[in-house]
Amino acid sequence: MKNKIDELLKKKEKAKLGGGQEKIDSQHAKGKLSARERVELLVDEGSFEEIDIFVKHRASDFGLNKQHFAGDGVITGFAKIDGRPIALYSQDFTVFGGSLSEAHAEKIVKIMDTAMKLGIPIIGLNDSGGARIQEGVVSLGGYADIFLRNTLASGVVPQISVILGPCAGGAVYSPAITDFVFMVKNSSYMFVTGPNVVKTVTHEEVSFEDLGGAETHASKSGVAHFIFDNEVETLLNVRRLINFLPLNFRDKCPELDFNFKSIKREEKFNDIIPDNPNKPYDMKKIIELLVDQNDFFEVHSGFAENIIVGFAKMGGMSIGIIANQPEVLAGVLDINASVKSARFVRFCDAFNIPLLVLEDVPGFLPGTEQEWGGIIRHGAKLLYAFAEATVPKITLITRKAYGGAYDVMNSKHIRGDFNYAWPSAEIAVMGPKGAVEIIFKKEIANSPNPDEELDNKLAEYIEKFANPYIAAERGYIDEIIDPADSRIKLIKTFQLLKTKVDNNPKKKHGNIPL
Ligand code: HXC
Repeated sequence: MKNKIDELLKKKEKAKLGGGQEKIDSQHAKGKLSARERVELLVDEGSFEEIDIFVKHRASDFGLNKQHFAGDGVITGFAKIDGRPIALYSQDFTVFGGSLSEAHAEKIVKIMDTAMKLGIPIIGLNDSGGARIQEGVVSLGGYADIFLRNTLASGVVPQISVILGPCAGGAVYSPAITDFVFMVKNSSYMFVTGPNVVKTVTHEEVSFEDLGGAETHASKSGVAHFIFDNEVETLLNVRRLINFLPLNFRDKCPELDFNFKSIKREEKFNDIIPDNPNKPYDMKKIIELLVDQNDFFEVHSGFAENIIVGFAKMGGMSIGIIANQPEVLAGVLDINASVKSARFVRFCDAFNIPLLVLEDVPGFLPGTEQEWGGIIRHGAKLLYAFAEATVPKITLITRKAYGGAYDVMNSKHIRGDFNYAWPSAEIAVMGPKGAVEIIFKKEIANSPNPDEELDNKLAEYIEKFANPYIAAERGYIDEIIDPADSRIKLIKTFQLLKTKVDNNPKKKHGNIPL
C-alpha cells in the first residue's frame, strides 16, 4: 500500500506543476501568478479540495497524442471564503495556453452542475487562449456547454468571472453572462476579435490594451465591473464581494452583529446639499455617512458615473445602493446609467438583497444621441427592473425628483415600500425654469417687464411645487425626515422590512426591454 500511496503523491505533485516549472517561470516573468497561486490567494487557507486532477484530453490530431498534462489546463474544486463554500475553476496558461479542450470544458461543467445542486457561488479564474485550436468544433461545443450552464445558473447562484489573462473570441460570452466581471490592469484583455482582425476588417489600428484592456472595459464598454492594479488586489476584492452575497437565491445574505444603540444622529448630513439647487454635490459623501463603518463597495465605479451602484451593510444587513450622482452630468439618467443600474437592481432582486435608492435626478438626458441610441428602451430597463423587484425597496429623495425619472427611481407607484424625502426635496414634472417658460409663455411674453414676470412666476412655481409636501400630502412620500436621522430611519426600516413577502404574477418569464 505504501508504494501505491507514494505513487499517488508523486503523480499529484507532478500534476500540480501543470505545463512545468519553466512555463510557470515565464508566467511569473509576465507579472502573472500561476493558476494554483491564484487559488491559494482567493480561498481560505487549506480549504481547497481539488477534483479531476488526473483528467486528460482525448485528442490525437496535430501531435496532441504525444502531449498530455494531467488536469488538462484547468484546476477545479471546492473551497471556502471566510468559512462559506464556493465552487471554482482556475485556467492554467502553462498548459496549451489555458486553451479549452473537450476535457477541460467537461471539468468546468462538472463544477458548475455540482455548484447548482449544492447552491453555492461559482468563481471562474480565466486565463486562456480560447478554444483549443487542434480540437476544432469539439472545443467550440465545450464552450457552448459552459454558456448553457452560465445561463441556467443565472439567478440561482452568484457567478463571478475573474479575467487574469487573454479572453478572446466567443470565450468572452461566459464572463458576459455571469454576474460580475473582474479584470486586472495591463495584464488581462477581452475582445470578440483581436487587433489584427480589427485592422483587416475596419482598417483601424488599435492596441490590445485600448481594444479590450481593463481600463477600456471599466470605463467605455461597461463589460468589467471591477478593475484593480494587480492580481493580488483583484482576488482579495473577489473575497470582499462574496461577503456581501448569499450562497444562492434561497439563502440569506451573511448578517453581521450590530449594536443598535451605536446609531447616532448625524448632523453632517445637513451641510451636504448646497443652498443653490443647481450646484452639484458628491452623493458618495451621503452614502458613506449612511452605511456601516462608512464602508461602501462600489460596483462599476468608472462606468456611467452619473449613477452610483454598489454594496454596503446597514445595521449589519447587506444592501444594494442605487444613487444618482449630482456631481456627474447633474445625475441625469442616460443610456449607460440606465443599463448599469437596471442590471444591478436585477442582481439584487434575484439574490434577496434589499435596495436603497438615493435620488437626486433632473430627468432623462435630452438629445439626438440619446434618442437615436434608444434611451426609450434602455430607460425602460431600469423602470422594469425596479417595478418587478420584490425585495425590500426604500427610496430617499435628497433633492430633485423630476419627470419620468421620479417614477422610475423606485417611486411608491412601482412598489417602493418606504419612500422618504429630505425637506430639500423638489418633486415635480420638471425643473422650475423649463416649467415656467412653458406654462406662462404668453404671460411672460405679453408682460411689460418679461424678466420681472419670469422671476415672479419662478418664485410662485418653486413655492408651490419645488418641495416634498404635495407628494407627502398624497402619501407618495411616507415621511419627510430630518436628514440627521437618516441612518437611524433607514436601518429601522430595513429591519421592519425583513419579513416582507411580495410576489409577481405567475408567468414563464417577463420580457424586459433588451
Ligand atoms: C491551442 C494554444 C492556443 C489555442 C495558445 N496556445 N492559444 N494552443 N489552442 N487556442 C498555446 C500556444 O501554442 C503556446 O504553446 C502556448 O499556448 C502559449 O501561447 P503563446 O502564443 O506562446 O503565448 P502569448 O504570446 O502570451 O500569446 C497568448 C495568446 C496567443 C494571445 C492567447 O497564444 C493567441 O493569440 N492564441 C490564439 C487565440 C485565439 O485566436 N483563440 C481562438 C479564439 S476563438 P507552446 O507549446 O508554444 O507553449 C475562440 C472561440 C470560442 O476561442 C468560441 C466560443 C463560442
